[in-house]
Amino acid sequence: MTPEDLRTGFGRFMTGVTVVTARDGSGAPVGFTANSFTSVSLDPPLLLVCPGRFLSSFAAFERCSHFAVNVLAEGQEDVSNTFAGYKGDRFARVPHGINADGVPVIDEAVAQFSCRTEQVIPAGDHIILVGHVMDIAQRDAPGLGYVGGRYFSLGLERDTGAAGFCGAIIERDGHVLMQTTAQGMQPVLVEDAAPGAQRARLADGLAALGITAEIDQVYSAFTQRGTGRRFTYYLARTAQQAVPEGMVWVPITALPTLAFASAPVGQMMARFALEARTGTFALYLGDAEAGDIHTLS
Ligand SMILES: Cc1cc2nc3c(=O)[nH]c(=O)nc-3n(C[C@H](O)[C@H](O)[C@H](O)COP(=O)(O)O)c2cc1C
Repeated sequence: MTPEDLRTGFGRFMTGVTVVTARDGSGAPVGFTANSFTSVSLDPPLLLVCPGRFLSSFAAFERCSHFAVNVLAEGQEDVSNTFAGYKGDRFARVPHGINADGVPVIDEAVAQFSCRTEQVIPAGDHIILVGHVMDIAQRDAPGLGYVGGRYFSLGLERDTGAAGFCGAIIERDGHVLMQTTAQGMQPVLVEDAAPGAQRARLADGLAALGITAEIDQVYSAFTQRGTGRRFTYYLARTAQQAVPEGMVWVPITALPTLAFASAPVGQMMARFALEARTGTFALYLGDAEAGDIHTLS
């Protein structure tokens, strides 16, 4: 048995995805993505999660008096990726609140378990952090799934046949790269058949169209009523001058004058034109007709 066999074997177990949060000795918020979460006991109410010794925040989790486990919702892949890999201020990128213990809790999570540390058990290259659940906030929505190193979502699996698309609002020097279609203009769109690893597949799709761009935050995610098709648009930047076939660089100031491929795309680009003036971009989540805008910065 190689370490790789073990990793692959463990990865076959389907899990949800959580972000575990606490504060370090100086009071700074810390957090990491974890799928080692398990419910343990109802009476007393106990749960566990396994922080690895390799975590930069390991000492904080080993010593914390309180922590929280946030069970991520479908569509929160970006939150998971931020807390698994981003090296800057993770909390500046992710909308969150503060619980009664002063621990950050992630907005839109399907459950937030606020815990007092009950026990810390050394276990090889991880520890088992057992929490006594002091409080729960939860909402009725599908959670984000993870198996074999990829995300999956029950909502998407149920939408059999409803293809997804991901797109990029690509900016360069006050211009946006738009695709011209028979229906009208739209940001560059890539078919996105499988759930998970969306950002990587968007980068591949853009590369296939001859575009090299730095992909930033999700800007808008909605489901088209009727077809059930999911659209996820990211903000992106490029220094590239070349104009791929069927595309055109449009000044952001000219966006309000364009005819767009669909009403939701028109609304999204109108919001983009407005927000580009102030540089404060928000995140839209919902369906094509109704949704919420979440301020990201
Ligand atoms: C889906 C998923 C599940 C993870 N589960 C765990 C886990 O249970 N325990 C752990 O220590 N790291 C886990 N990780 C890895 C950590 O999230 C990652 O190493 C950590 O955020 C790195 O933080 P650092 O840069 O502060 O060291 C997981 C990553 C992903 C993407």
